[in-house]
Amino acid sequence: MINRQLKLARRPESRVSLDDFSYEESQPPPVEDGAVLARTLFLSVDPTNRVWMKDVPQYMPPVALGEVMRAGGLAEVVDSRLDGFAPGDLVFGMTGWQDYALLRPGGALGLAKVPTGLDVAPERFLGICGPNGVTAYAGMVEVAGVGEGDTAVVTAAAGSVGSAAGQIAKLRGARVVGVAGGSDKVRMLVERYGFDAAVDYRADDFAEQLRATTREGIDVLFENVGGAVMETAIARMNARGRIALSGMISIYEGRGSTRYDWASIMAKRLKVQGFNLIDCEKLWPKAVGQLVEWLRAGRIVADETIVDGLDRAPEALNLLFDGANHGKMLVRVA
Ligand SMILES: NC(=O)c1ccc[n+]([C@@H]2O[C@H](COP(=O)([O-])OP(=O)(O)OC[C@H]3O[C@@H](n4cnc5c(N)ncnc54)[C@H](OP(=O)(O)O)[C@@H]3O)[C@@H](O)[C@H]2O)c1
Repeated sequence: MINRQLKLARRPESRVSLDDFSYEESQPPPVEDGAVLARTLFLSVDPTNRVWMKDVPQYMPPVALGEVMRAGGLAEVVDSRLDGFAPGDLVFGMTGWQDYALLRPGGALGLAKVPTGLDVAPERFLGICGPNGVTAYAGMVEVAGVGEGDTAVVTAAAGSVGSAAGQIAKLRGARVVGVAGGSDKVRMLVERYGFDAAVDYRADDFAEQLRATTREGIDVLFENVGGAVMETAIARMNARGRIALSGMISIYEGRGSTRYDWASIMAKRLKVQGFNLIDCEKLWPKAVGQLVEWLRAGRIVADETIVDGLDRAPEALNLLFDGANHGKMLVRVA
């Protein structure tokens, strides 16, 4: 058994390259008490991976230079010294960019077994039935309390979190408008994900498109992008609107910024709440149960984009920032 690892060797300036990592091969570590040794099958590729590479204040410590690049993953237990876990079990946890990881339970992102017997592909528990779906559920249901009569806008709407967030808002009776880049994604939002309308933030007349599709204003903004896209949407918010601040992908690579006019947030009495999956441990079982049920009943749909090969993880991460993914971005390792 050879453990290939990609360790962060330097902090990327903008786009990530394979040269930002050192490639090492070694024997997998021996299993320890209270842990499992697991072989990575799929890596979850997330915009936040790019933030973890930066030495800036954030919700988790940055990945240290020389450390295996942190990432969530789906893995198969090969050895266990943890009650209830046996070789062959499928689990998810923070595998990192490597073939074999020692995983322990604990925290919202700690080791957990992939539910079986549900007729759901295991890798879906990295996306719609896992972190991305739970993020969408937390933001729309718990933070924004979306419901009938609301007009909800979702940015980065054709992505993994965004497509789930829009569909959840629809299921709760809201009118939903998606914001995405390019005509293909705009079409997909309406035709595949069932949004009521969708607009292209790259178009010169984006603000006008948003105005035309939110005639009654915006009650709920599920924000994934930040920067000018977010500011254009906030300008359409109704009094006492709610903003679930999920992410700000437009600034993760170190470009762009968000400087909103707080006086207008005050004047409109907006509720703005940042939230993060790491605080969702209690919500997780309820949200996943609901998402699995909706998925199996065909009430929500989800897509995955899969890139093959551990060494292509940096490339897959860049594709998120190019908007080249449809739904959840995964790297197939084994
Ligand atoms: N709060 C939490 O706990 C939590 C958890 C998971 C994810 N998130 C956040 O949710 C957001 C989406 O994550 P995801 O994993 O579902 O990724 P994703 O939406 O599947 O992929 C990222 C998408 O962002 C869009 N994008 C990239 N650069 C952009 C830019 N400069 N301006 C506007 N749009 C841009 C692209 O779509 P287009 O083609 O439409 O540009 C791309 O497909 C991110 O902000 C992430 O940080 C938050």
